[in-house]
Parts: sequence; structure tokens; C-alpha cells
Amino acid sequence: MSVEDNVLKKIAPDADHRRFVTRIVSDLIESVKADIRKRGLNLEVRLVGSVAKDTYLRNPDVDLFIMFPATTQRIDLERIGLAIGRSVLGGEERYAEHPYIHGEFDGLEVDLVPCYKIDSPLGLKSAVDRTPFHTEYVKKRASEKQKAEIRLLKQFTKGVGVYGAEAKTQGFSGYLIELLVLRYGDFGTVIKEASKWRCGQMLYLAEHSREKIDSPLIFYDPVDPNRNVGSALSLDSFSLFVYACREYLKKESIRFFFPHARKSFDMRTIRDEFRSRGTRVVVVEFGRPKIIDDDLYPQTRKTLEGLKALVENNDFIVIDKSFHIAEKVRFVFELQSEVLPNRRRHLGPPVWIDNAEEFLTKWKNKGFRRPFIDRGRWVVIAERDHKRAADVIRHQVDSIALGNGFKGKKGFKVIKHDSVMTGDFEDTLTELIDKRKPWER
Ligand code: UTP
Ligand code: MN
Ligand code: MN
Repeated sequence: MSVEDNVLKKIAPDADHRRFVTRIVSDLIESVKADIRKRGLNLEVRLVGSVAKDTYLRNPDVDLFIMFPATTQRIDLERIGLAIGRSVLGGEERYAEHPYIHGEFDGLEVDLVPCYKIDSPLGLKSAVDRTPFHTEYVKKRASEKQKAEIRLLKQFTKGVGVYGAEAKTQGFSGYLIELLVLRYGDFGTVIKEASKWRCGQMLYLAEHSREKIDSPLIFYDPVDPNRNVGSALSLDSFSLFVYACREYLKKESIRFFFPHARKSFDMRTIRDEFRSRGTRVVVVEFGRPKIIDDDLYPQTRKTLEGLKALVENNDFIVIDKSFHIAEKVRFVFELQSEVLPNRRRHLGPPVWIDNAEEFLTKWKNKGFRRPFIDRGRWVVIAERDHKRAADVIRHQVDSIALGNGFKGKKGFKVIKHDSVMTGDFEDTLTELIDKRKPWER
């Protein structure tokens, strides 16, 4: 059996599973409708997403939209939408932007989302109003054969680690996967063509705007020509996908679809690795902010960039960096060296500039250590505030833009190389040094 047939056998719902999903969906819709009636309201409930399109993998989430008339006040849409969700699902509010309830119903995950019922996706009033149009578009155009191709591509991107448009992954949404298969015809052609993509690749299926969009992959939305369906895709996820396609073409394997989980190295292996590299590690730790992933990941990336800029502005050379989110959020910096000399070269203004005088006044009483001229500019060998990277971070962390959830500095700790190497940092450091791609593990 070919790799792809083998994968399909594992991921496509069989008749039993279809019945199971259909039964839960109809029970769920009945419960939501009953709750709406109980409130004396008359609102349409619409199944959207991959269950509606028959492009779901086994154990899908059910995406159910409650459609409000366009005249509804936004505040009422939120209040009523969330109330219905809470009463049917229990569940939790889980949103960064648009309100919805995520919960469980009879063993399947459910997203219950209030939206506006609009006539055209161009007149949208909230971010999710296009979704019913996306569902209709794919339902109308994807052939039975293509639904299987969509499932394959979904599982492939899952295995590679780039499936999902949420902030954690910054990858391909389900709808983007569907459009790619519609555009190229089948799974194999998507892989073949994507292996030739370059950053800025532009795709479309219908009339689209002429406006230039700056993004690694631009797929003009066939139901809204101004919108890029690939807007959530990061440059790294885009690049990883292109590389995975190239590798898969060389040698296809089920490991692209179902990779082995990463196993952490033990601390002895990790110590040996850093000893042989001669590099030094600093870990910065915070308590995990109690916020949803769609907020946590962007804030964590922002904090990582801030910390990196801080140590770099203090002359440290960052060789590599990563973050690890578990009960704590940990930031790892691999440095060329964690200690710098007492003094540093400090570059001043050109000699002929008016405020060169200020520079000289500031550094004047320094005896034979006074400023000197090098290629027309004043230079001074100045005292360094902190010699150790860990001290720089400890003392200057307040000077950088931390992500909101980290501003209270709950559980803030800076851990130096030697303590890191004798502590419990297996997962954190393996993530930094194990550069194998998921399918190579
Ligand atoms: P999903 O992320 O569930 O994708 O969103 P999908 O196409 O069903 O794919 P899988 O199989 O579950 O992975 C379904 C639709 O619902 C909208 C999304 O925009 C998407 O088009 N949606 C979902 C929202 O707008 N907001 C939400 O909070 C959740
Ligand atoms: Mn879904
Ligand atoms: Mn969903």
C-alpha cells in the first residue's frame, strides 16, 4: 500500500465514526436550538468548519455558529452568544478577539461562535462573519476525491508542525489547506508546486485585489478579494513547509504525517554537548501567566525578542535562543560567552560636531584614560556596568518591553550556566539543541 493510502486509512472517518459525529452534531444543534427558544429568541444555528465540509480528521472539533441579525448590537451578540454557549456546553470563554465558547459535548470538542448574518462577505461586521461563506465555497467546489486530498494535506502539515492558524503555531488554517487543494488539484501537486515556492508566493482562485500584500504566502480569499487567507502564516512555518515538501519529494515516508515525539536528552548528554561547544547558557524564568494561548504565545515571543535585544545591546553575542512553555515559561539564550571584560569600547561623536564637547566633558577627568580620536571620531574605553549576562538581565529587565503577562515579573528568575547544567532543564535545553525536523526523529 502506498504511504498516502496508508495515511488515509488512519485519518479518514469510517462509516462508524461518521455516524458517531453526525449523531453528536444533531444532538448538539437540537440543544442549542432549544436553549435559543427558551430565551424567546429566533436565531439560526449553522454548522460550519470541517465537519460541515466533510474535510475533518478523526475526532474533529464541531464548529457551530449562532447567526444574529446584522442589526443586533455587538454587546448583545456577545452577551447572548456567550450565555447560550455556557448553558449548553459549560465550557470556557476562549478568545483574544472575537468572543466564543469552547467546550465538550458527548466526547467531541465544540466551538460555539456568535456571528452576524450578512448578505455578502464584503459587508462583514465581525471577524468571523466570512466563515459561513468559506464553508459554502468549499462545500460547493471540493469533489469527493479532493476531500481525501484535503485530509492528506491537513495531516501532512500537522505532522510537520505547521497546521493551525492560531498564534501558537502561526501555520496553515483548515481553509487555507482546502484552497491549496482546490488550486492545485490534489495532494501530490500541492507538494510538488510548494517545493518550488519562494517567499512572497501569490495564489488565487478568483478575481482579487491588485493591492500588494507583504506576507510569505498570499492566497487571495475567493469570497473576499481583499483578504489574504495566509495572513497568519509566519516566515518560519512557511519555510519549514517548503523544506518538508522538498524532502518528501526525495523520499516519501509516513513519518511526515506521523512523526515520533521528541524525546528529551538527559542532563549528562546536554552538559557534554555544551562542553564541546564551549558556549554558555543563561535561562530566564517566569511563572506561566494565566492567559489563553492566543495571548500567551505572542507575548512570549515579544519577551524573547526584548531579552535578546537587551543582552545584545550589552555586547553579548547570542548564538541561539528559544523558549519553552510548561508550568513555567523559560527563555534560553546560548551565548558565545557569559562574562565580558571590565571595560568596553564606547564610540563617541565625530570631532567636528558641536556636541562633541559634551562627550569630552562627560569623560574628561579620566587622566590617561581620556578619549582618543579614531578615524575622526571620539572613542573612550569605558567602564562596563555589568560584566555578566545574568546581571545585565537581573538589573535591566525593567528597561525592556515585556509582554503584558510578564510585566508583574511573577516568578522572575535568572539562572546561570552552572546552575542550569545541574538542574532540571532537560526539556528546555533539548528544545534548543535538537535540531532534527519532526520527520527525522
Ligand atoms: P477550525 O479552526 O475549527 O478549522 O475553524 P476547520 O476548518 O474546521 O478545520 P479542523 O478540521 O477543525 O482543523 C473552523 C472555522 O470556524 C472559524 C474559523 O475561521 C474557521 O473558518 N472560527 C473558529 C472562528 O471564526 N472563530 C473561532 O473561534 C473558531
Ligand atoms: Mn473545526
Ligand atoms: Mn474550531
